[in-house]
Amino acid sequence: MRRIAHLSDVHILDPEHRRSSTRYRFAAKAVSLGRPVDPRTRARKLTRGLAAAKASGADHFVISGDLTELGDATEFEYFANLLDEARLPDGSVTLVPGNHDAYTSDSAWRRALEGPLKPYASASATEPGKVVDRGTVAFLPVNTTSYQSIAFSCGTFTPDAPRAVQARIDDPALRDKALVIVQHHPPFQHHKNPIAQWIDGLRGATHVLDMLANHARLSILHGHLHRVVDRIVSLTRPASALGQDRGVAGAAAVTTRARILGAPAVCDDGDDAPRVRLYDVRDGTLEAAGLYAM
Ligand SMILES: [Fe+2]
Repeated sequence: MRRIAHLSDVHILDPEHRRSSTRYRFAAKAVSLGRPVDPRTRARKLTRGLAAAKASGADHFVISGDLTELGDATEFEYFANLLDEARLPDGSVTLVPGNHDAYTSDSAWRRALEGPLKPYASASATEPGKVVDRGTVAFLPVNTTSYQSIAFSCGTFTPDAPRAVQARIDDPALRDKALVIVQHHPPFQHHKNPIAQWIDGLRGATHVLDMLANHARLSILHGHLHRVVDRIVSLTRPASALGQDRGVAGAAAVTTRARILGAPAVCDDGDDAPRVRLYDVRDGTLEAAGLYAM
């Protein structure tokens, strides 16, 4: 496999929003943060974003969370219908949940994967240590969410996650592949205010940064910030020690290449042409290949 298309933050609404409960309508408006609460427009953006992803020549598709606005079962069903209509090849779609997907219950994600999203479960976030082997690249989808009040939007890289990811890094069967963590929350401090960071940030982020700093083949695709992010992670080991990591013969190139990569939000992009982020897999690492829209 050669090219990855990355979409994020779709925030799909209940298509029968006007007929839904007062509680749902209140919560959907509150968490939409001023965005129009218009199910059809958001659905159209997803459909067009997926069409662009398909047209880009990508052979794997990542959607990094906030698939829905509230994690309501009807929203997941609508999201799944739109995804089904895109007819992407089996096993080529990796989904992870975002904080919005856990605002209704602590079992919403599991029930979505057992229900309408079942065709996508094999390549999506389930148990810690999940690996989705796609030839030259292996995806490690991680669920950073938990059921919480809509006043919070934080995530957690749970204590068992670093061990599980490290086991994949050390797995000889994956030694020649680019390894790509997929999770919703970015693994760095994105608020200056510590209280804002506590409400909206990722607990356990240092575990992710440590792994990135020690493994040149490891990258992370995330959402949550609703914008393009490119962060370079410096390696803590000297270039000579990286010979064990295939694909880093040009270690200097790897140390100056962004490995924390965020995608823009489908729900915030223009109606006609949501942008899709592309990456190419080269020599055991990811290389950003620009934004694509139709
Ligand atoms: Fe979002």
